[in-house]
Parts: sequence; C-alpha cells; structure tokens
Amino acid sequence: GSSLFAQTKNFVVSVNKPVAPIPSTMWGVFFEDINFGADGGIYAELVKNRSFEFFRPLMGWKVDQKPVEEGCILIQNRAVKNTNNPRFARVTVSNRAKGSLSLTNEGFRGMGIKEGLRYDFSMLYKMISGNVKMYVELLNARKEVIGSAEILPEAANKEWKKLAVSFNASQTEEKGSMRILFEGNGVIDLDMLSLFPGDTWKNRPGGMRTDMVQMLSDMKPGFIRFPGGCIVEGFDLSQRYQWKKTVGPVEERQLLINRWNFEFQHRPAPDYFQTFGLGFFEYFQLCSDIGAEPLPILNCGMACQFNSGEVVPLDQLQPYIDDALDLIEFANGDVTTQWGKLRAEMGHPQPFNLKMLGVGNENWGPQYLERFKAFQKQLHAKYPNIKLVASSGTDPDGDRFSLLNTELRKLNVDFVDEHYYRPPQFFFSGINRYDNYPRNGSKVFAGEYASHTAGTTGPVKNSWLAALSEAAFLTGLERNAEVVQMASYAPLFAHYDGWQWAPDLIWVNNLNVIGSPSYYVQKLYSTNKGTTVIPIQLDNKIIAGQDSLYATAAIDAPSKEIIIKIVNALPRQQSVTLNFEGIKKLAGTAKYTILQSDDLNRVNTIANPGAISPKETDIRITGKKPAIPLQAYSFNVIRLKYF
Ligand code: AHR
Repeated sequence: GSSLFAQTKNFVVSVNKPVAPIPSTMWGVFFEDINFGADGGIYAELVKNRSFEFFRPLMGWKVDQKPVEEGCILIQNRAVKNTNNPRFARVTVSNRAKGSLSLTNEGFRGMGIKEGLRYDFSMLYKMISGNVKMYVELLNARKEVIGSAEILPEAANKEWKKLAVSFNASQTEEKGSMRILFEGNGVIDLDMLSLFPGDTWKNRPGGMRTDMVQMLSDMKPGFIRFPGGCIVEGFDLSQRYQWKKTVGPVEERQLLINRWNFEFQHRPAPDYFQTFGLGFFEYFQLCSDIGAEPLPILNCGMACQFNSGEVVPLDQLQPYIDDALDLIEFANGDVTTQWGKLRAEMGHPQPFNLKMLGVGNENWGPQYLERFKAFQKQLHAKYPNIKLVASSGTDPDGDRFSLLNTELRKLNVDFVDEHYYRPPQFFFSGINRYDNYPRNGSKVFAGEYASHTAGTTGPVKNSWLAALSEAAFLTGLERNAEVVQMASYAPLFAHYDGWQWAPDLIWVNNLNVIGSPSYYVQKLYSTNKGTTVIPIQLDNKIIAGQDSLYATAAIDAPSKEIIIKIVNALPRQQSVTLNFEGIKKLAGTAKYTILQSDDLNRVNTIANPGAISPKETDIRITGKKPAIPLQAYSFNVIRLKYF
C-alpha cells in the first residue's frame, strides 16, 4: 500500500499440517573442473604441468641457463613403456655452478605462498650418470627467494624413485613461483615435480585446499554432483571423462585436455588440463568427510552436443555401461572384488555407500533415450537400489525438454535433471514451476541453475539481484520438496584470474576464498533445511510473489523448531505477522538471520568479502503472532522453537 503505515500482512503458518518430508539430500553442490575449480583450485598442487604432459611440454616452465647448452633440458617420450605418463625431462648438467641452470614453474596464475607455512616438494628421478645436486626455491613476485631447500638425489639411483623435501616459507605472496636449480656434473631424469602446501584438508599429502573445502563443508551439502558438467561429455568421445583413468597412483593418471581450455574464444585457457590428482577416490573421500551423498554423473556414450556431438554406436555401448557398473563396485563392492580391492588399496576398505548415479550430463534427443534405456536396464538388473538420474537436456522448456521429460517419466526414472541458467526474471516469475508437477513418479533434480544478470560473460557477476531472485525461486523448490528432492547451483568455483564462465558460487585467488551472495543463499537454505514442509499462506494462498513476497515454511522435527524463509523483493520495508496455528506456544526468543542490501548491483569482493553476508540475531517473541519487519531487498530466515 502507499499509506505511511503500510498494512502488516497476515501470514498463516499451519504447524500441524505437514505437506511433505524434506529429503536430507535437498541442497547439494555441483562440482566441475571449470574456472580452475580442480587443477589450479581445490586440488592444492602448486606446480602447473608437473609431468610435462601438456600439449606443449614446457608450458608453465621457464629454462634459464648461462652458458646456453643446446638440449640440456630435453623432453623425452617413453610412450611404449608408459602410455599414461610418457614424458619426462632429461637434464644434462655439464659442470654447472649453482645459478647457471634453472627451471622455474609459474604455477596456476602464480602460486599462493603463506608465511610460516610448510611446503612439501617431491619429484620422481633417475640419475643416468654422474652426480647432480639440486635446490628448490620459492620466489615472490619480485623474484626474491622466500623459502628454499637442498635436494640430494642419490648418484647410484638408476630406477624411478621418489624424493621428497619440506621447508618453510618466510613471506606471504599471491603470485609466487618455484625455481629448481642444478649444480654438479651428470645427467638426471625428472618427472612429477610437485609442490603442495603443508595445510591441505585433513593434512593429506597431495590433498586439497583447506579453505576451499571448508567453504563446502560449511554449507553442509546433502550431496556432491561430480565431475560435471560438460566435462563428463568431452569435446569428442576420446576426450570424455573416464573415472578409471582417475584412480590408482597419481603418477599413472593420464592427463587430459580440459574441455574449457578452448571452449570459449573470449576466455581461452591454453594451460588448462586435467591431471586428475582430484580423481574419483578423492571425490568419494571428500563426500564422506563432509557428510554429503556422492552423485557421480557418467558419460552415456555421447560427446558434447554443442561440440562434436559424437555418439557411440548402440552395439558398442557396453564399455560405457561397464564403466557405470564398475564404478558402483569401486564405491560399494567388497574388498575381494576387482574394483573394491583397488578402493581398499587406496586406503578405504569401507564402502562409500554410493546410492545414486547420473547417466549423461546435458544430453538430449532420441539418441539419448536409446542409450539411457540400455544403461537403465543393466544398472537396475545388477543394482536395483541405485537411484538413477537422467538428463532433460540444456533447458527447462522447449521441444527437447518436453520429449525427454515425457519419455523419461514413462521409464519411471528416479530423477529428471533440470538445468536453468536464466535472467533474474525467470527466477522471480517461475516460482510456481513445480506447483503442478505430478506428485508421484519421477522426482526432479534441479541439477544446475544460476540467475544470470548478463549472460556468462557480463561485467556484473553474482550480484545481489541474482542471489535475491534465487532466494525467491528456492522457496518454490522447498515448498515442493515432494517433487524437487535435490538442487544445486552451478558452477561451484571460479578463480578470478582463470575463469571461463560466470557467475559462480565461490570465487578464489591463490590466497583467498569468498562466498558470493548466491553462496550465502544456498548455505542459508541448506543449513536451515528442516525435515517437513508446512503451509505458509496469505489469504489462503501460497506466498509466491504477492507484493514481491515469497515464503516457505518447514519444521525441523529433531530440534522442534519452525523455520520460516521469506524474501522481500520490494525496494522498501514490508511488515508481516506470522500467525502460528496448531501449536501450544513459542519459545521467548527466536533466531533471526538476514541477508540484505539496498543495492541490487552489489557484489562481494576479496577486499570486502562480507559486503553481502548473513547477519544473525536473537529476537524476542511474545505470543503466537509475532510481527516481523522485512527490510527492503532482503532474504530472511527465522527459526522458532515451539511447544
Ligand atoms: O556449469 C557450466 C556448464 O553449464 C556445465 O558444464 C554444463 O552442464 C552446462 O551447460
């Protein structure tokens, strides 16, 4: 209303009328190695092109020598002996003094180095002849040494052997690099030159960046979708993601070009490859660490339909189906099975309890249906309890979507995966999307979504407007938890200096991690999930856009709390009265969390990471009809204990 004392709106919350259970998997995360999310991101390896397998074998490395000796660093290829990791560097050191021959690695857009932290260097080597001494140094942006150690390879070592040395850094630097110096007289072969920070997640050697994992852990995600994303499909089938190539010893995991290396002309990343240091074992382990259900998405025998669009002939689909069957064995199988044994050897004899599997990422058309059916038949026959996720293509509407959504439901698939990268208006006005979906049969996995204010390249990324529109839309998902049982924003991570696609949930540089406003929206939903949807109504109607208000309510049975989420998308304050029915009384204080900004264009930055972040307070409650003022452009979460 326009009056000075705008009327308070009466929201009726019927605590005693459960609508639907909210699954523990409701809010999860979508992980793909895009935007330097894995290599150069959460996978904490600091050396880029550590085994010289990039298209250009010395990409990321710089050779300095004085005097110059032709071929003194020579890339050799032992493809016959080692098809997975064929290249290594043969270094000929001819009576060199320290400083006359060195190899410097630039890292992934530099190396993030922290003062006082331990750094773990390692390499594989063979001493071909003579005796070579080496030094490893960390350099700051001005090329000053900020940490160093001696490396003493054994002169007699003729077989590939690992050598490791640790040392501390004396300075913090966002754009550091690593230099290796050679001294003496001899020939040495080198491979897997690696450097990890000492503070990896759970201190695992060769592990993940703790600050990035912590951001995920803080969200308490119900599941992790992995490894994508288009990366599953590959430009062509030869470049598809193959989980079997991502397990076992890290030096035997075959490198693959990252499909985001060349996908976008406007955001080229010629140095973007997948080492698979973060492979399927590490993924399952991460899920188990942070209490998320694994949700792998596997190739269905089709390459990216925006790229080559190759399909495997139906009579040659079996290896693809076998990959899916074997993955289940790798995750869950007894340690006496072929793949269960490998899991045990990698350090996890206990099963990972895989319960779900996706077949195909953004694949569509009759070709997809044919292939999906073949997977479904064999997967159901061998593993009837594994729930299957099927693709509905790239868009949440149109002919492709209709075909798949109709046919997949006839096949009674467990989950139909819907994707929407759309403008804020789609999210504000699409609030009723799931109200009329069938309550029985296939459920929805909102597997990739993000509100885009300016396409995938626009200048304003992850604005408050985008997040506010998502917060509004998600009321419609929670309200329909009977239909939508999993949801994940995409993509998850982006490196400020290495991204291909924006917006993204979490932004990083080599030293810092920040949550976007969308991150806080997802986190507030996930950490305030509740166990049962209950009705919240205005004039006997769901609250889905009246005066730009959006609301959903749930109870959390274990803690006996009512959880209310309300979005006010007007540029002014509105007041609501929460009228609780079906309870004896409310506790005298409630937890109130608000995410708010008057500026819809506002974003979080490294300099001001909390510009838009949740503010939590206790509020006093008297009676069963508390009045709550809702600030302009706000997302509000209220938790009330009831009796
Ligand atoms: O999230 C970025 C990309 O969007 C994913 O790889 C793909 O599935 C979708 O097209």
